[in-house]
Amino acid sequence: MRVLITGGTGFIGRHLAASLLRQEVVVRLMGRSFAPVADLLAAGALPVPGDLRDAAAVDRACAGVDLVCHVGAFSAPWGRRADFLAINLAGTAHVVAACRRHAVQRLVMISSPVVIFANEDMHEADESWPYPQRFCSPYALSKKLAEDLVRNATDLPSVILRPKAVFGPGDQAMLPRLIAAARSGRLPCIGDGMNRVDLTYITNVVQAIELAMVATPAVGRTYTITNGEHVLLWEVLRDVFRRVGIRKPLRRRPLKMMLALAGLLELHASLSGREPVLTRYSVNILARTQTYTIAAAQRDLGYRPCVDVAAGIEATLAAMGAG
Ligand SMILES: NC(=O)c1ccc[n+]([C@@H]2O[C@H](COP(=O)([O-])OP(=O)(O)OC[C@H]3O[C@@H](n4cnc5c(N)ncnc54)[C@H](OP(=O)(O)O)[C@@H]3O)[C@@H](O)[C@H]2O)c1
Repeated sequence: MRVLITGGTGFIGRHLAASLLRQEVVVRLMGRSFAPVADLLAAGALPVPGDLRDAAAVDRACAGVDLVCHVGAFSAPWGRRADFLAINLAGTAHVVAACRRHAVQRLVMISSPVVIFANEDMHEADESWPYPQRFCSPYALSKKLAEDLVRNATDLPSVILRPKAVFGPGDQAMLPRLIAAARSGRLPCIGDGMNRVDLTYITNVVQAIELAMVATPAVGRTYTITNGEHVLLWEVLRDVFRRVGIRKPLRRRPLKMMLALAGLLELHASLSGREPVLTRYSVNILARTQTYTIAAAQRDLGYRPCVDVAAGIEATLAAMGAG
C-alpha cells in the first residue's frame, strides 16, 4: 500500500509514519519542514515538500497513492481566522479534489472533538452531539467546515476521526506548554479543579487511524477517539508537575475571573499582534468537563486503546528525560 500523510512532519503524522514504515507500507510525508523527520527519511519515508494552501502541490503529493491520511493542519489556540481557513478549510478542499482526481481509495481525515465544544461542560458526548451555534475558536470553525467538505464528498470513501487531547513523546503542544506555564508560575488551577476530561495517548491514535484505513463499516462515518478514561485533569497535571520537579502548589482561580482576564489579554493581543499567554478557548478547555464515548469506534473499527493514561504519562515523561 502507498500512503500519503499530510502533516507527516508533525507530532501525530510522525508517529503514524513510523508505525506504517514498520509494516513495510510505502509512506510519503507532506510538510514544509523536514528536520524533525530525518529518522523517518532514513527509514525510507519519501518527503513531499509542499504547502496545503497550494492546490498543485497537494495534487502532486496525492498522485499515485492508494490512501491519504490528512493529518496536516494549523492547530493553535490563537491565530488569524484567515490562516485557519486557508490551511484547514482550503487545504482540505485541495486534498479532497486531489483524492478524487487520482481515484484515491480512501481518505482518513483527522479532525477534533473541539468542533462540538461549546465552552460548556459535556458528558459522554457521542458523534451525534450537535455542532454549537458559536464555535469556540477559529480553529474549531475551520475543522468543522473541513469535516463538512469531506463528509459531502460522497463519491470519495472517507473516514473522519476526532482524537481528543493527544499526548505522548514528541508532542510540543500540550504537556510541554503546560509544564512551562506551571514552572514559571503562570498556570493557576482554573475553576473547582474537579473537571474530568478524556486524553488520548499517541499509540492509541495511531491504532485508530490504521483501523480507519481498512475498516469497511467506517466509510462515510465520523468517530471520536480517546483513551476511554475520564480522568480528573488537574489531578493528572499536578502529578505530572510534581514528577518534573515543580514543587510550588498551583493557586486556584475562579473560572469567571480567568475568562475575563483572557478576554482582556486577547484584546491586547489583537492590538499588538502578539499571541496572548492565555485565551478564553484555553481557559474553557482547561476548566470544563469534556468526556466522550468511544463506543462507535470500538464497534465499527475494533478500536481498543492499549496504552492507558498512567502508562502514557510514564512514557511521555521518560521521553522528556523526566519522571
Ligand atoms: N495534538 C492534538 O492533541 C490533536 C487533537 C485533536 C486533533 N488534532 C489534529 O491532528 C492533526 C495533527 O496534529 P499534530 O498535533 O500532529 O499537529 P502538529 O504537530 O502541529 O503538526 C501539524 C502538521 O501540519 C503541517 N502543516 C501545518 N500547516 C501546513 C501548511 N500550510 N502546509 C503544509 N503542512 C502544514 C505541519 O507541517 P510543517 O511543520 O512541516 O509545516 C505538521 O506536519 C491536526 O489536524 C489537528 O487538528 C490534534
